[in-house]
Amino acid sequence: DPQLVAKGEKVFRKCQACHKVGDKAKNGIGPHLNGIIGRAAGSVDGFRYSKPLTARAEEGLVWTPEELSAFLASPKSYLKGTKMAFNGLRKEADLEAITAYLSTFTE
Ligand code: HEM
Repeated sequence: DPQLVAKGEKVFRKCQACHKVGDKAKNGIGPHLNGIIGRAAGSVDGFRYSKPLTARAEEGLVWTPEELSAFLASPKSYLKGTKMAFNGLRKEADLEAITAYLSTFTE
């Protein structure tokens, strides 16, 4: 749905200070997010994740659309102790849109 993707691109402005996507995206304050949908959590080369994120990754967490939405709705309650300093996306429509947008960036 191109409209949902376009909305997601706008929502992603809230993430851009810390996350990059697209050609030559590099890690910054947060890991790059190419290929994030369906990827094992905590698996971007060269990024130092927090202990709680690493622990969830070792338990087998995968960023499905459902897990990603749960995380982004309230990062600090979903992942206590995460170093992602972001309060979360309150609106269900924003969560759907960001997921559609991020799905367009493969590894
Ligand atoms: C981690 C998405 C906003 C900093 C992550 C992860 C995702 C994500 C999916 C897990 C990555 C992985 O497992 O490889 C998003 C989205 C955002 C957003 C979609 C906007 C809606 C932010 C902001 C910051 C930030 C604004 C900085 C102020 C981080 C950091 C981590 C992280 C430092 C690593 C967390 C840890 O190790 O506990 N983000 N993020 N993110 N993000 Fe974000």
